[in-house]
This record gives sequence, C-alpha cells and structure tokens, in this order.
Amino acid sequence: MIEKNTPLVIDNSGEEPLSNFSDNPTFAAILDARQQRRAFLKGGVGAAVATFMGISLVGCGSDDDDNNSSSSSSSSSTASSSTSSSSSSAAPMLGFTAIAAARPDTILVPEGYTATAFVPWGTPLTGSLPAFNDDGSNTGADQEQQVGAHHDGIFFLPMDAKTTGTNSDEGLLVMNHEYFDPNVFHTNGPTSVDGKRPTDEVRKEVAGHGVSVIHIRKTDNVWAVVEGSVFNRRITGATPMDIRGPVMASAKLSTKYSPNGTETRGTLNNCGSGLTPWNTYLTAEENWAGYFVNKDATMPREHSRYGVPDDHGRFYWETAESGEDLYARFDASTLGATAADDYRNEPNTFGWMVEIDPFDPESKPQKRTALGRFGHEGVIFAPAEEGKPIVCYSGDDSTNEYIYKYVSADNYYAAIAGGYLLNNGTLYVAKFNEDGSGDWLPLDISNPDFIAKAADAEVTFADQADVLINTRLAADVMGATKMDRPEWGAVHPDTGEVYFTLTNNSGRTVTDAANPRPENRTGHIIRWRENADANTFEWDIFLLGGDVGTTTGEISLTADNHFASPDGLWIDSRGVLWIQTDMSGSQQGDGPFGNNQMLAADPVTKETKRFLVGPMDCEVTGVHATPDLKTMFVNIQHPGDRSAVGDFTSHWPGGGTSRPRSATVIVTKNDGGMIGS
Ligand code: FEO
Ligand code: CA
Ligand code: CA
Ligand code: CA
Repeated sequence: MIEKNTPLVIDNSGEEPLSNFSDNPTFAAILDARQQRRAFLKGGVGAAVATFMGISLVGCGSDDDDNNSSSSSSSSSTASSSTSSSSSSAAPMLGFTAIAAARPDTILVPEGYTATAFVPWGTPLTGSLPAFNDDGSNTGADQEQQVGAHHDGIFFLPMDAKTTGTNSDEGLLVMNHEYFDPNVFHTNGPTSVDGKRPTDEVRKEVAGHGVSVIHIRKTDNVWAVVEGSVFNRRITGATPMDIRGPVMASAKLSTKYSPNGTETRGTLNNCGSGLTPWNTYLTAEENWAGYFVNKDATMPREHSRYGVPDDHGRFYWETAESGEDLYARFDASTLGATAADDYRNEPNTFGWMVEIDPFDPESKPQKRTALGRFGHEGVIFAPAEEGKPIVCYSGDDSTNEYIYKYVSADNYYAAIAGGYLLNNGTLYVAKFNEDGSGDWLPLDISNPDFIAKAADAEVTFADQADVLINTRLAADVMGATKMDRPEWGAVHPDTGEVYFTLTNNSGRTVTDAANPRPENRTGHIIRWRENADANTFEWDIFLLGGDVGTTTGEISLTADNHFASPDGLWIDSRGVLWIQTDMSGSQQGDGPFGNNQMLAADPVTKETKRFLVGPMDCEVTGVHATPDLKTMFVNIQHPGDRSAVGDFTSHWPGGGTSRPRSATVIVTKNDGGMIGS
C-alpha cells in the first residue's frame, strides 16, 4: 500500500525572526550628531582620527611582491563623485569600466573580462561520482558525494599555502553551502506522507548543507576539478564533529549522542567563512535555530533568545519517516528522563564557528566555542603578528544583533600556530559611541564590570560556558549596540582597518550614530580602527547604500555604483574592497538596483564601481582569488529562488529550461591581468 506523497509548503525565507527583546538602550544620538562629528574631522581638529580613517592608507598597495602594478591612489581625494575617473588617476586601482545595473539571467562583467560557471550544485565530487540529474532525482546518497547547494563563503587555498602560498595554478577551493530551495532541490518539491517527511528527502537536504573541499587545477588556462583527489571532501549536516573550547563538556551540551557534551553531528546554515592565519577554514553557523523545534511549555533562554521555533523545524526534519536518531534529534523537546536520554540540548551544539583543515582529509571538524554562540555570519582575522595574540571579528546577522571580537589568550607563533589559539581567549562585543569612539566590552565571567552589569540586570550565569552558550544575553547585559544586521567583515591587510556590512533593518525606529537611518532598507558599511589599548576603537560610516544621489559625506552614489543590502565583503592584497549585495527578491524586482551584484571600491577615495551583476533571483556572496589575483572566484547563491515547482524564475547556469543551480563563477581578465586592474 503506497501512500500518496502530498506537497509540503515550507517557509524558506532563510531569516530568523527577531529575537532580541532586550531593553538595553539604543543610543539617543542621531544623524545630526554624526554630521557634526564629520564637520569636526574635516576641520582638522581630529587629525589623529582623520589620519587613520583614510589618509594613512596612502601607498598601502605595495605589500605583495607579486602585485607591483597597483599601488593605491596617492590622493587623499575629496572627489565629489565616487565614480569620477579622475579620482584614481594616480594608479589603476579600479581600471575597468563600471557596468550598469541590470536584470539578466546570466553573469555580467566589465568589457575585457570573462565569467565562467564552475562546480555548480550537484557536481560529482567524491565516492562513486554520481552525475547530477537535472530532473531533481538525485538521492540523498548521491548528494552526499556531490557539491552541496547554496554556495556561500569561499576561499582558494593554494597547494603551497603552508609554505610560500604563491601557487596560482592549483589549490583547494573550500566553500560553504548555506541551505537549499525546496522547490528547486527535489523533482516535485518537498513532500510529506501522513505528516512525516520521506527519509531520503531529509537525507538529501541534510547533505545539501555544509562545506565542500574541492581540489582544482588550471591546465592551459582552464580550471577543472582534480577527479579522485584525496582532498575532495564533503562535510554535511550529519558529519561528526568535536566540541572544543570553554563549552566542551558543559552539562548544557549533554545529549543522547554525546552524554558528556564533547561531540555533535553536522554543521548547518553555513553562511560566510574565514581563513585562519594557519590556513585552516572556519565555517559559520548562521540561521541554525530554525532547524530545531522545542515544544516544551517553557523554553530555556539558550533556545528562546535564538528563535528556536515551538511548532516545527523549518524543514520538518524531526518528522523523518524512519524515526532514526540522526533526524529525530532536531526535536529539542524534553522527551526522556535526563538530558542524556534525548536532544533537549542539541540546539546548544549549534551556533558556533567550526574549524576544518582542508589539507587533512581525515581531520574531524572542531566547533570553536570560545568565539561565542550566535548567528555567525562569518569571521575575519586581523593580520597575525608573531608573538602577539590573534584577533578576529564576527557579526551576528539578525535584526538588532551585535558585532564581536575575539582575542586569544596565547600568543601567535607561525611555526606552531593552530586551532588551540581559538580555544582560550576573550570574547568582546562592540559598543559604538556617538562621538565616533567605540568600546570592546568583555563577555567574561571573571571581569568585575561584567559581574556588576549582570547583577544590575539580575541575570545569572553559572560559568563561562554558560556565558558563551548565551552569548547574545551576555551582550545584552553589557549594553552592546544593536546593529542593522551585521554581515561580513574585511580587514585591510596593511592598516588593520576593519570594514563591516550592515545589510538593512527596515524595522529600525530608534536610530543611533552607527545605525543612523530609520527603516534602513538599503544598509551601510561601517569601519573602525583599533586603538593601541585594544579595548577601544575609532569608527566612521564608510558608505551608505541607496539609490543614485544617496550621500555619505562628500560621496554621492551614481548609476555606476548605487547599491542596497551589502553583505559579502573582501579586501584583496592590493587593498581593493569588494562589496557583494543580498537584496531580497522584491528589492531586486522593484528597486532601481537590478539584480544582486558585486562592486569594487577604493577604501581611500571611496571610488566605487559595479563589477558584476548576477542572474535572476540570486544572491552574490563569497569572493576570493588566487594569490596572483588573476583568477577570481565569486559565488552565486540561489538563482531562481522564487521558483515554483517546475516553474523556474532562472535557468542559470545551464540555460534553456534547466533547473537553476548555485555555482561558483570564475572571473578572468582577457589580457591575463589582475582582476579589477
Ligand atoms: Fe547568510 Fe546573513 O547571510
Ligand atoms: Ca550573507
Ligand atoms: Ca544577507
Ligand atoms: Ca543567503
């Protein structure tokens, strides 16, 4: 007797609901105060601040012996237009002609460049190398051996990364797979039978998530996967992982799978990523809370503050027909006698940064709990300095959430550096003051200020593990600044200046200096530089997103660079800032911005030009390049994400009537030059 599968409607907006109901005040300061400070800086009184906010970047592009043609602009420009070609006359920091906003179902790049789709979702990678079936009929077992869905954060690690790091012809392409589009992923969309998900659909969906490690090589100027390489690897939502750092073995991580709280299975909703100074890959767990359900009458704070649903998981994985433990664990309700008899603590094993060593295929991924638990967008490291602590930054991409900094307790020594540096350190959260200064507030149970503020707020933490499991609550307690959805960060390789995207926050009513616009639909980019004391910083707003004519100080957006919802961010070794956008489907469809895109900016002059436009209903997210900057890898996520079953809104990259597939795009310059030059 065969039950008929019925279509399942899944809300796949991909964003967690607002869960910051803390009443820590936002700043009363408003945009006027911000503008006053700007006048102050221009008046020269704040010379020290003005220096690090740009002028000291002059000449910063000559860091790399290979990149001798691209020193940055020597002008401390006061260009009235960010696209004025004269603003970069001293050096071709951005030598290409900007492309127009558009809505193609293909990739657009400037004249003189070529863009080629590479390793799309479903590319055979490991094991028996199952071919991709365009009718959506690949099984869960197939997907476990194929490149995952929804390409996101990406890095190219040259094969000699651990020595000279100059190989631009062969390396490991390591990338995240954030989630999947149910209507595109399966032949007939997602289904259920008597309220249960067919197990192989769930298996395939779990395997669509995670990370791919792909060994690639360039031969006669054509990049290809090295088939059968021992480095080719899939890490999925089911891969066994270790819990490390201060939260390891916490009673709040005890589960039926790992009663002592030292292990878990899988990583989910892997958005951005980061590269450690010792050449391992960190993958971020972003919107993980929605994958679980907790039906208990009272939900613990470590679930409620993160938005774990109380009715069902986003994809109903907990209902998998087989009832097997691997999927039943997504029900975090209290079902057994003790925590070791059920999965009430399973959500506590997610929300971390996960370290993967792509050069060690046998290595087990490690969840690095010292970096905190939240909706990690990604992570960006400051350049490591011998004999000093390592420093990295991570944003919590949810409405009104925070930006964090981690500083290791131990010093960095290149010869012995490793993941242990991520197991012991201090996590700070950012407070942006309205006068352009900032404070890093320690989330440290031994810190007197933290103890006092927790007492004032009548919040109790049992130990540092409890603080880290409840990172958002700890940040609430300290009075961190509620941001307009922090996404990626980028650190300038020479100056250490940090840039962060704040993608949008249409619900903002109370503004502050760092988030100066109510109903901020188009987002902005903020930047700061650390002060010598390491506990304070100076900041300003680099660029406000918006339509043509939107101004940030003296810079006014034009048709060559108007943008909204900045998300992905990377600064290459020359100092070019690459900005990627993640506008919603409606913002792409109705707005003046066209499809999602990537722009290149000069951090000194703020000259900004649109470099790439993606296909219909996609997001452009994740960018990296070979060391010679002559091959760029850009990820295109969820083309056609507003598709109905069998009615696709994009056919990229296959064209014709084919199913849309997330893919990497390889960008090269036709004359063999550096990208952007
Ligand atoms: Fe996965 Fe915040 O984007
Ligand atoms: Ca993102
Ligand atoms: Ca986004
Ligand atoms: Ca996304």
